[in-house]
Amino acid sequence: MTSAVLKQRNLLGIRGMSAAEITHILDTAETFREISEREIKKVPTLRGRTLINLFFEASTRTRTSFEIAGKRLSADVINISSSSSSVTKGETLLDTARNLEAMGPDLIVIRHPSAGAPHQLARVCRAAVVNAGDGAHEHPTQALLDALTIRQRKGSFEGLRVAILGDILHSRVARSNAHLLTTLGASVTVAGPGTLAPPEFAALAGEGGLTVARRVEEAVEGADVVMVLRIQRERQDSAFLPSLREYAVHYGLNLKRLSLAKADAIVMHPGPMNRGIEIASDVADGARSLILDQVANGLAVRMAVLYLLGGGAGVTTATPNPAAQTKPEVEPQPEPLSSAAAAAHADGSK
Ligand code: CP
Repeated sequence: MTSAVLKQRNLLGIRGMSAAEITHILDTAETFREISEREIKKVPTLRGRTLINLFFEASTRTRTSFEIAGKRLSADVINISSSSSSVTKGETLLDTARNLEAMGPDLIVIRHPSAGAPHQLARVCRAAVVNAGDGAHEHPTQALLDALTIRQRKGSFEGLRVAILGDILHSRVARSNAHLLTTLGASVTVAGPGTLAPPEFAALAGEGGLTVARRVEEAVEGADVVMVLRIQRERQDSAFLPSLREYAVHYGLNLKRLSLAKADAIVMHPGPMNRGIEIASDVADGARSLILDQVANGLAVRMAVLYLLGGGAGVTTATPNPAAQTKPEVEPQPEPLSSAAAAAHADGSK
């Protein structure tokens, strides 16, 4: 890792990251948001670097945004899915990784149904490894994009009350968010059916800040942020729920339950959503929903992560301004920066 703030060369999880490291990634992501608003959405920051996206599980948002992020930074991007890889012929994950490594990639992004798969890869690869979701373990870039979305609306995390609702047990998003939000000073309350939100989850944050509520209403009351998780039917190998209809009635976020939160509370969901089950459509599409802002921020966060781990040009200080340091590959016509953004970049600030 070339940054003075980030200590690791891979991004495998949020657990163990310091508040300074997390904030550094969020600050870097803010500088990348502007690139996506340009007419020519491309900078040469990672020109000559190779990114492999290795997805062994379905994905819309994460896979697409890592691909777009790599391309906007001018990296060579190769996408490999489990169905198109030699894993279908019996090759192990580690042999796949060693063979990819022999081709000299600089970055490998991996999503895998088994917890710990990215860590295994990181042990055998010289390339920087990014965890794009491993089983029910962690999904660090999701938590980072969630944090960026919260910070844009709420300013800071200290004292913020965040409710996380639903299938906590199977959720890598819940784990990464619990680590991140409590590290930055927010208090997190999770709630769901007893089978999917076990009391032991409270120990996850270590130094407190995490509570398991018995009822969804308890968690939502007075919350600044209400984060709804998907019911993960594919990870439920036994009967955790009586029925989806009952789940919607007792645990789903509807307008009535949302009215218990603060008047300016925001609603988030990592996607993909089960409309009418964990979240009502009028909540998902309502004025307080930031679900599509999360997706837009996902691109900025993934550009930041690739830039920081991929040794992008000019990363020599703790406060890089990549958007200002790099010139677009094709000179845009006309000048693409808004006057406000141009002023900000002219003096090197974010
Ligand atoms: N939030 C998320 O990881 O979505 P995808 O599964 O579509 O990548």
